[in-house]
Amino acid sequence: MSNPDHPPAVGVPFPPGFLWGAATAAYQIEGAATEGGRAPSIWDTFSHTEGRVVAGHTGDVACDHYHRMPSDVRLMAELGLKSYRFSVSWPRVQPGGSGPANSEGLDFYRRLVDELLGHGIEPWLTLYHWDLPQPLEDAGGWPARDTASRFADYTQLVADALGDRVTYWTTLNEPWCSAFLGYGSGVHAPGRSDGADAVRAGHHLMLGHGLAVQALRAARPQAQLGITVNLYPVTPATDAPADIDAARRIDALANRFFLDPVLRGSYPADLAADLRQVTDFGHVRDGDLAVISTPLDLVGVNYYSRHVVAAPVAGADPEPYRRAPSCWPGSEDVRFFTRGVPVTDMDWEIDAPGLVETLRRVHEEYTDLPLYVTENGSAFVDAVVGGQVDDVDRLAYFDAHLRAAHEAITAGVPLRGYFAWSLLDNFEWAWGYTKRFGMVRVDYDTQARIPKSSARWYAEVIRRNGLAAQ
Ligand code: FCB
Repeated sequence: MSNPDHPPAVGVPFPPGFLWGAATAAYQIEGAATEGGRAPSIWDTFSHTEGRVVAGHTGDVACDHYHRMPSDVRLMAELGLKSYRFSVSWPRVQPGGSGPANSEGLDFYRRLVDELLGHGIEPWLTLYHWDLPQPLEDAGGWPARDTASRFADYTQLVADALGDRVTYWTTLNEPWCSAFLGYGSGVHAPGRSDGADAVRAGHHLMLGHGLAVQALRAARPQAQLGITVNLYPVTPATDAPADIDAARRIDALANRFFLDPVLRGSYPADLAADLRQVTDFGHVRDGDLAVISTPLDLVGVNYYSRHVVAAPVAGADPEPYRRAPSCWPGSEDVRFFTRGVPVTDMDWEIDAPGLVETLRRVHEEYTDLPLYVTENGSAFVDAVVGGQVDDVDRLAYFDAHLRAAHEAITAGVPLRGYFAWSLLDNFEWAWGYTKRFGMVRVDYDTQARIPKSSARWYAEVIRRNGLAAQ
């Protein structure tokens, strides 16, 4: 920590008004799974199914944020956050997935937004962070076209309730994960494994996004609307043409599957060719791509790491987690590498230059729209020593990625904000509570919050609107 009387000079200043924030998601922090009229989502069903989540963890209690919201917002204010990105739980505000709103559920978000505004914190609302109401999954889930219309109806309910006080809206969080982990590999809820269903899910998620943008635009013309995608640079392991082709295939599935329809109004031709054995894209109807590419005001990018890939080796057994069922339909046999560089507790390579590459690509190849890093962060094993957590690894990760963000700005990227993932340690999906991403430690026995060193450091970065010279 720097000496507060003599802080190092700000060598890396960010643009005035840069939106410094932190992010969370409803199922990962709220708990209160059966309170206030909330009904099960696919993540309740999935986490309560034996063998799906490490150690049988569920989001039933999580960080108990539903009950602790006012003090959590006070904590955000103490850290000086300019913005807070949260998600609305669909099964809390529309428990059946269709029909009328549950006013008690909406009231929770009204109170949250009022509390944020009262502390001068800009609310950033994500409509869908993976918690599909279970009745909609029972009716076919995202592979069913009707789910897109249900999402638009739900969006209308939230817009009616919160549109007067929320400016920033993102529709979906990481549709790749919903589609390809939820319906492809099945490691996320609802845990189904069918390549064609995963592709259909991806399309209907984007259709739902487009319909939701149209509904929001009509209801709230002044709102700032966007989507959050998780992007990865994809690097071939060698210069061999077969490895370069493997990288092209994974880039198509991971990145261009979403970027092209949303920002260009078309699917990439090579993606359709790669998926020939999986689907004929017969689920795409005339006019869908026009809806999907409804103009936006911003694009949210979640960045964690890079993929390094190589061509399949004839007869070789793919790594266990890449075996079918796979999240890479049609490209199941592409090999994924780790290069021996430092990794986080998720085994994800730490690659800050990849953030520069990713932001520049979106800006230079796709759009002039303002960009926001809507998630970036790392899991590490933390030690509590004398009631403190000195998370030097996480702090270094944030520092390196913020320097990368600054480099992207210098290169001309209109990057307007950055949200650390995450404010709190929380329910890390299939990993349960075993992975800690928070800047603030959560003691799950007592629900005590302990700001880690990274949180105090981040507060200082925000206060000075920049980083110290290196
Ligand atoms: C992203 C998710 C977020 C969190 C981080 C670690 O894929 O959007 O909920 O799990 O990864």
